[in-house]
Amino acid sequence: MDHFIVDGGRPLRGTIRVNGSKNAALPILIATLLTDEPCVIRNVPDLRDIRTTFRLIEQLGKKVRREGKTAYVESKGTLRTGAPYDLVKQMRASTLVAGPLLARFQKVSVALPGGCAIGMRPIDIHLHAFKEMGAKSTFSHGDVVLTGRLKPRTIRFRFPSVGATENLMMAAAALPGQTTLRNAAREPEIVDLADFLRKMGAEISGAGTSVIRVRGAKALHGVVHDVIADRIEAGTFLIAAAMTQGDLFLDGAREDHLKAVVRALCASGASIREEDGGLRIKMSRRPKPVSVATAPHPGFPTDLQAPWMAYMCLARGGSRVREKIFEKRFIHAAELARMGAWLRTEGSIAIMEGVPYLHGAPVMASDIRAGAALVCAAVAARGRSVIQRVYHIDRGYERVERKLRALGAAISRVKRIPRLRTA
Ligand code: EPZ
Repeated sequence: MDHFIVDGGRPLRGTIRVNGSKNAALPILIATLLTDEPCVIRNVPDLRDIRTTFRLIEQLGKKVRREGKTAYVESKGTLRTGAPYDLVKQMRASTLVAGPLLARFQKVSVALPGGCAIGMRPIDIHLHAFKEMGAKSTFSHGDVVLTGRLKPRTIRFRFPSVGATENLMMAAAALPGQTTLRNAAREPEIVDLADFLRKMGAEISGAGTSVIRVRGAKALHGVVHDVIADRIEAGTFLIAAAMTQGDLFLDGAREDHLKAVVRALCASGASIREEDGGLRIKMSRRPKPVSVATAPHPGFPTDLQAPWMAYMCLARGGSRVREKIFEKRFIHAAELARMGAWLRTEGSIAIMEGVPYLHGAPVMASDIRAGAALVCAAVAARGRSVIQRVYHIDRGYERVERKLRALGAAISRVKRIPRLRTA
């Protein structure tokens, strides 16, 4: 198991290229199940969750070849129609195979994902929508089996779930007739999936708004597609740069995907401007306190809540973070406290009182973004940190230590935890 050793306290300076978006690439790779023709997907990050997705679609009958950042997906024969528990438990997004497979083959069996470190995360919104479109569901040995010929309908989600919107968009893309999704998620990853499905032959309008209309087609085609830049990776680096009072250019970062985060960073005292094809951030003092509440896009993203909390632990004063998307996404708070942060949580609210500096400590990542928050804290802290369970971070950030080293951070990946000095 890998660990990071970080000697913090150096400002991040320089330029890095933002990767392709994990959360856009996952549904797009799964959407290749909608066609038997070859697809070429470019700008795919090299991450654990992406490798799991390759395994998933290969188990279902596709052939995947990866060359650098490009994935070539081809058909080998008839597709199977089930996502097994051993893959779903590694990556919940595996449940997204339900939409394309059910729409194409009138049957799919998907292992129920169960809870995870950040919350219960049920898939009732997906299942309810499939039922409204005519599917029948039965439960057996932890799997849900959906059967039936789906019919285009108007669906109103009780909450703008990203996964449910993607699942239903993919199903609708394979159905002749119009499906309307109301209270749909508006994330940039939804817009990217819509672009992909449109190139395949579906007619889609309204992606990026709360009403999406999909007019599907019986036969969809193979396409070439470039995945959008990862706004969460970009946002994490923006926060890390502000925390270390650095000067960083993020090549490929898009302000229109990060408005709420850019607004909060500017309110904290950072200067951010768009420059040829990217974003530059400069920060030269301790941040002003800025409270945020997470919300579906275009609100402050829950995936940047943990790094933001780490940042606010260094503010000149008190601030709050309210987590409105996931019920248990504060596990990093106790780890930040080990680094000298003054904070406490009360239900869905975290209350921070900024300190002038954090100190290095041995800490443990509990999910992708909690891990990212610890990396941000460790590069800004005085002294040495050891971050354990780096595999969580590897799910969402491609070789983050290399990027940070290129920006001047002292961070290395080790197999064994070095012996720590005790008082
Ligand atoms: C996506 O998860 C992202 N994952 C998450 O990224 C991200 O945190 C989340 O959207 C919110 O932005 C991928 O894109 C692969 P949701 P998803 O369905 O689709 C509840 C990361 O670190 N809900 O919008 O699972 C759910 O429990 C991550 O990269 C139901 O109650 O998110 C949660 O509280 C992790 N029933 C809220 O809605 C449902 O049927 C948002 O979930 C579906 C969701």
